[in-house]
Amino acid sequence: MTVLVTGATGTVGRQVVRHLLEQGRKVRALTRDPGRAVLPYGVEVAAGDLTDAAGLEAAFDGVTAVHLINFGVGYRPLANGRDIVALAERAGVGKATVLGGWQEGTLEPAVRASGLEWTFLRPMQFMANFLNDWGESLRTTGRVREPYGDRQSPPVDEYDIGAVAAAVLTQDGHGGRSYHLTGPEVLTPRRMVAIIAEATGRDLRFEELTPDQVRREWSVPGRRPPLSLFRAFAEAAGADEADLVESLLRMYGTPNEYATTLTDHVEQVVGRPPRTFAQWAAEQAHHFLPTNPR
Ligand SMILES: NC(=O)c1ccc[n+]([C@@H]2O[C@H](COP(=O)([O-])OP(=O)(O)OC[C@H]3O[C@@H](n4cnc5c(N)ncnc54)[C@H](OP(=O)(O)O)[C@@H]3O)[C@@H](O)[C@H]2O)c1
Repeated sequence: MTVLVTGATGTVGRQVVRHLLEQGRKVRALTRDPGRAVLPYGVEVAAGDLTDAAGLEAAFDGVTAVHLINFGVGYRPLANGRDIVALAERAGVGKATVLGGWQEGTLEPAVRASGLEWTFLRPMQFMANFLNDWGESLRTTGRVREPYGDRQSPPVDEYDIGAVAAAVLTQDGHGGRSYHLTGPEVLTPRRMVAIIAEATGRDLRFEELTPDQVRREWSVPGRRPPLSLFRAFAEAAGADEADLVESLLRMYGTPNEYATTLTDHVEQVVGRPPRTFAQWAAEQAHHFLPTNPR
């Protein structure tokens, strides 16, 4: 059994690969640039670009299950979902997981209409976002400066998304389902900074910005802080650069029932509760320590 993992060098794909290897599976990892890809020992590397299905024949050869990402240019949904699914069917692939975001593209309907045993994975905010978004600022200033410090979300550990994907790809009983993957608790940025402070033993603070401060400080070209979730959202939705800050304020400032609802889907699939933000922060603590001790 060979499992093809697309997005294998990314935040989630790396975890899918890790769990499959731990199960002793044969893993093939797709990347556009094998020379740059850092993948674990034992993984077979396949070169290919999802936007060009014709070039993926070799990558799909002999594959029994595939983990698919639904994007191909930035986070914009793939336009050639039908070609990818047709290729998977010709190759005799049995199971497919599809990692998606807020927007369906052409891949999801093609997968639904196919003979593949498909499962959609729809995670909430990845815990890794907080490393990308806050890492540098916490290392260098000990502060996170953002609006809406009490906004709520149930972030999920990317380790658990990988565990769910690996289980679904190798076990029966998950066909035709959509798993909405959340962590075990609804948290706020203010609380998460406190948890990282505890994990690192550092005096870290959340500093609330007013919407007007955000407009003044984040609209300066080149000064917009990195915000994974928002960037992904804006890119996928094709947001206008000028409207980025306003859309962010709208998104952060609008309570969202979806973002405060916990699911038990991680536990249903992997048989244990999802990992907590405190567990994640303890493991990642070294990334939040100052690079130059003060
Ligand atoms: N961040 C969140 O909180 C969040 C929450 C819910 C859902 N999501 C969804 O999760 C997905 C992002 O996953 P991620 O964070 O794991 O991605 P990521 O870390 O940004 O990595 C992107 C991966 O996609 C691969 N890739 C990109 N374009 C490709 C193409 N044209 N052909 C082949 N491979 C390609 C890259 O491979 P190479 O560069 O090696 O080719 C890389 O492995 C998005 O669909 C997003 O909507 C994110």
